[in-house]
Amino acid sequence: MDHFLYRDGKLFAEDVPVSEIAAAVGTPFYCYSTATFERHFRLFDEALEGTEHLVCYAMKAASNQAILKTLAALGAGMDVVSGGEYARAKAAGVPGERIVFSGVGKTRDEIHAALTGGLRQFNVESEPEMAVINDVALELGVVAPITVRVNPDVDAKTHAKIATGKSENKFGIPISRAREVYAHAASLPGLKVIGIDVHIGSQLTQLEPFRLAYRKVAELTETLRADGHDIQRLDLGGGLGIPYERSNEAPPLPVEYGAMIKEELGHLGCEIEIEPGRLIAGNAGIMVSKVIYVKEGEDREFMIVDGAMNDLIRPAMYEAHHDIIPVVEPTPGEEPAAYDIVGPVCETGDTFAKSRTMAKVEAGDLIAFRSAGAYGAVMSSEYNTRPLIPEVLVNGDQFAVIRRRPTFDEMINRDTIPEWL
Ligand code: LLP
Repeated sequence: MDHFLYRDGKLFAEDVPVSEIAAAVGTPFYCYSTATFERHFRLFDEALEGTEHLVCYAMKAASNQAILKTLAALGAGMDVVSGGEYARAKAAGVPGERIVFSGVGKTRDEIHAALTGGLRQFNVESEPEMAVINDVALELGVVAPITVRVNPDVDAKTHAKIATGKSENKFGIPISRAREVYAHAASLPGLKVIGIDVHIGSQLTQLEPFRLAYRKVAELTETLRADGHDIQRLDLGGGLGIPYERSNEAPPLPVEYGAMIKEELGHLGCEIEIEPGRLIAGNAGIMVSKVIYVKEGEDREFMIVDGAMNDLIRPAMYEAHHDIIPVVEPTPGEEPAAYDIVGPVCETGDTFAKSRTMAKVEAGDLIAFRSAGAYGAVMSSEYNTRPLIPEVLVNGDQFAVIRRRPTFDEMINRDTIPEWL
């Protein structure tokens, strides 16, 4: 459920007509709903009620300061994967003890920054990384809390580019080597082993792969405890999928996911951490775009819009589906049309949808890409020197620009000219 609904024939974001925002900020732009962010965070938080837990929002999904502050105010932790994300989380006021640091390639500088600024734990991805964390911790005279990310070799049954839990993927250490790696970690004086981490992929639409992975983690917990490790915390990663195509998808709900977690892991008495990104942010955002032209091709009609692959790359990169709806509600019974919906970028891949049936549009009409809140703005670029599009946050009947559109001069002036020119 989200808060982008038609009311009196117009698309609203909570209590604000989307067309009003478009008139104020211009198109294209991202528009987020505070109520949806809050609702989705609470669904996870409530799903784990009765178990000691922390929901660490995977801020890679959408990391605007205003979004982080909205979630932090509800008690969210953050899952960060870079020095930049760590700095963003801190800048939004998230206390170090609620920040988990994940990622396969943490640099010495990033490790240093997190150990100095404070963190909940590093999710360690390899032995060489473990050695560096130990080193930096000893240099600083602190002890770094860590989990080790294990790769359970489970098929997440999702798009290959976002599956992470198979042995051929670059993530974590093979679960078969876990005992050895934990023994090594325990011998390093700069580290304190506190738990186990696992994350098998993103946009999972079934519970089974999670269940298989978590079962392996439960077994490993017992084994490692028997080896003398104090396993108190299980970080179960993110990955629960969302319904991109409202017509035919119904991924499991957070409450079902939470129940499964308790079923598989409850007996261990561990603190549970989860790192959802997409489910919190995805349906909390839309991208609003304007139709520039409708062009007749030989055998198809092209809807050329002012948003492009640089603004929302998911269709080009993962063949992802986003529902696309007009901002003015179509009248029932109106004859629809089929469009190839494309952006202005000079690549054939700049295609959002092929032969998409929707209400007829004309130049100047506004359309909305649904489910664009996660991995939308954060993955955008300035390709074709197109400015990063604004982000707007709605809260009830108010809205605010939370990242404005840069001017061309601002973009150009980031370049510097060497003295020989
Ligand atoms: N934790 C870790 C360690 C991760 O690598 C990820 C996502 C998450 C949590 C959050 O997963 P989520 O709950 O959002 O599924 N750009 C792609 C998605 C990449 C996901 C990368 N890792 C997309 O647009 O579909």
